[in-house]
Amino acid sequence: MGFSYLIPVGHPENHIKGKTVELTTTFTPMKVLVATEKPFAKVAVEGIRKVVEEAGYTLVLLEKYTHKQQLLEAVADADAMIVRSDIVDKEVLDAAKQLKIVVRAGAGYDNIDLAEATAHNVVAMNTPGQNSNAVAELALGLMVYAVRNFYNGTSGTELMGKTLGIHAFGNVGRNVARIAKGFGMNVIAFDAYCPDDAMTAAGVTPVHSAQELYKQADIVSLHIPATPETKQSINYALLSLMPKGAMLVNTARKEVINEGELIQFMQERQDFKYVTDIMPASDMKMQELFADRYFATPKKMGAQTAEANINAGIAAARQIVDFLKNGNTRFQVNK
Ligand code: 3PG
Repeated sequence: MGFSYLIPVGHPENHIKGKTVELTTTFTPMKVLVATEKPFAKVAVEGIRKVVEEAGYTLVLLEKYTHKQQLLEAVADADAMIVRSDIVDKEVLDAAKQLKIVVRAGAGYDNIDLAEATAHNVVAMNTPGQNSNAVAELALGLMVYAVRNFYNGTSGTELMGKTLGIHAFGNVGRNVARIAKGFGMNVIAFDAYCPDDAMTAAGVTPVHSAQELYKQADIVSLHIPATPETKQSINYALLSLMPKGAMLVNTARKEVINEGELIQFMQERQDFKYVTDIMPASDMKMQELFADRYFATPKKMGAQTAEANINAGIAAARQIVDFLKNGNTRFQVNK
């Protein structure tokens, strides 16, 4: 809840041309809403609160909300908003009459309708890199879990000596490479936007097409964003290039998978495993069909660590303060 206060008489803001003027204005501090259906760790919220309150703003929390209406009501008088994977669409932006900035505390901003944000004069930002180690650690965790047959007591395999194909060498992909090398994996990567030098400097072998990556990799780890170009792009044709006993690890987005074709492929290829941190729409069906070679986390867990929450949450709060006070738009994604 916001509050109003009067600037005390004698305050520098009340001196105009050397004259002390009587107060005629009330000020309501800027309101920063943290709207997180999946809440940050408590310690991260406290860090966000500190940044926001030190800037003279008010923090309002909307956590674990279950209905969009709650978000629509909470955002009505917010000047700034921090979200995670929470959907920020036209309806939310229409309701946000005072909103100047929304920051996605995380990497992927496919949950924000950027065109609508621009149309509503709202700056949209993300906090790139802040949660990437957490996601990378989970990707490796999922790999170990799967190659050890989901800890069912049977004999599995090791990661050492296997070829890991990193699909997109951004912040998460780089961290996955670093950790995978510690496991003794042979790491290759494909990223149309990343120069070979950046990969070789990290001890990673660049390949120059997705097809080449899938042909060579025992395990592919996905780190592509969900864009019109990438949606549904992981399909039967690509997967069928993978060698026997292969596995796909998805800590990116479910939308990049062509689920129908993945199911068809897994029905034909009994040796293939799929592990994901983003539950597919056909989760029930996949559990029934592929009980011993399919796993999805019940809720997206990649960025769900205290460290990642602190890094991304506080970065988001700082970006808001820097934008509102100084107009800094460095991380704007709807330019
Ligand atoms: C991201 O894009 O940063 C990750 O997918 C994390 O998403 P989350 O904040 O919803 O956990």
